[in-house]
Amino acid sequence: MEITESAVQPQQATRRPSGAVASDLSKLGNSLVTKLHVLMKISQIYDSKNVALLQFIQESLQTINSLIRREGSLALKIVKDDLFLNEQRLRYSVEGFTSFKYLLTQLKKRLIGGVVFREPVDERSLREFIYSLMSLEEGREENASVFAEHLGNLSILSIEVNPLEVFEGEEEGLSLHKEDHHEVAKKVFFETIGTIEEVITHIKGKQHADVRKLKRLAQKAVHLVTEDESILLGMTTIKNYDEYTFNHSVNVSIYSLAIGRRLGFSRKTLTELGVTALLHDVGKAKIPKAILNKPGLFDEDEWGLMKRHPLLGVEVLLNLKQLGEVNPRIVIGIFDHHLRKDFTGYPRLFRKKEVSLFGRIIQIADSYDAMTTAKNYKKAPYTPEQALAVMMREREAHFDPILLKIFIGVVGIFPIGSLVLLNTREMGIVYKANPDPKCLDRPQVIIVERDGKREAKKELVDLTETNGGGQFKRNIVKTLDPNKYHIDIAKYFLQKP
Ligand SMILES: [Fe+2]
Ligand SMILES: [Fe+2]
Repeated sequence: MEITESAVQPQQATRRPSGAVASDLSKLGNSLVTKLHVLMKISQIYDSKNVALLQFIQESLQTINSLIRREGSLALKIVKDDLFLNEQRLRYSVEGFTSFKYLLTQLKKRLIGGVVFREPVDERSLREFIYSLMSLEEGREENASVFAEHLGNLSILSIEVNPLEVFEGEEEGLSLHKEDHHEVAKKVFFETIGTIEEVITHIKGKQHADVRKLKRLAQKAVHLVTEDESILLGMTTIKNYDEYTFNHSVNVSIYSLAIGRRLGFSRKTLTELGVTALLHDVGKAKIPKAILNKPGLFDEDEWGLMKRHPLLGVEVLLNLKQLGEVNPRIVIGIFDHHLRKDFTGYPRLFRKKEVSLFGRIIQIADSYDAMTTAKNYKKAPYTPEQALAVMMREREAHFDPILLKIFIGVVGIFPIGSLVLLNTREMGIVYKANPDPKCLDRPQVIIVERDGKREAKKELVDLTETNGGGQFKRNIVKTLDPNKYHIDIAKYFLQKP
């Protein structure tokens, strides 16, 4: 199966600006999408004469017009599930995902496939454009011509609108109504990051946090993990420095659910485990940011405070308005997620206590994610393989050896997201672990063929495939460090192979 980019691009979209220019355009594009998202949202709340709206319009005009001046014109086009800005496909970041999704959904619902701004626009034109767009009836085929006519009547002639094109193999509206697992997983993943952020912000502002929303998201994640865990596991390769705590909590939750599923937990228990994992570091909301993000080593006082986060987490939970949603298993899991088997962890206890099952699961997920994520730009993180090796060395003192073994089964000997060298001299990214315990070294791999500096072709292969003589077609020779090859692993998991 191939996922060449040209397959989803229209003919004229294959020309691309290169290097710095492209990334610059992509940055501007991201900002444009965010601005349009805000404007479209605001237009649903305020009428077109509102003062608050005017301010947003002014800000958006700057972005739009500077883009038009630089490029000559501005063309946004939908191709399947992608947005192209002046023929360059826009890649979204973790922060940008909600805006992308919103824009794509709103335009698709109205069967509008693209807009072209041929000249710099003024305040009135942009306002009319947004309000006319949002007032279009959903699903009406003639929307693009109705829209164009309306703009013409207002003497706005520099904005062109085009109908949505349906590409081969893509049924009209299908991607909106019947989203496949991959799309749902992406949505759940980013929505959960956003919700965790909301919860933490509320707690910091001494407001009550809504854990019910987290519970609903955990339920969705449980469903996804039960259906096909490899998609969500792939999402854990998205590492984002700025949002470490949020991103980290979601990753820990995904790993924990995958372990819990192998332990045969019921859906109810899995949901509880998911919520516990999502909230395991919630106590950090009570620790000043300056300490949390300190680049150097902690002094004794700071370390003392850091070590209080499990206890602070319990406090936060017990103060929740919806205490009914919280049960002892969740509270204990948060309390002992740093309590080690050999009692070297924290909080310090006066009496020996068995670490709870939720606690033991989260410890493994937590350590693995922390080790494989760079805490700051200076230090490279462990590769998945190195992290597992460290954990194996420490297993007797720190981890539950049986759970660790299960976890290795989850991520594989070659964990999902590892960059590997194959005996065919191809490079690959481990995409899906082999479910057969005897074939842990034969996962599914995305082949990365490198065309000059750009990764050109992506093909998903199964390492259990044999050739005519019964020999395996491909074997893994060793793992490689993706940082050395400048490969953005997460990108491969955001696209469907
Ligand atoms: Fe923690
Ligand atoms: Fe943690």
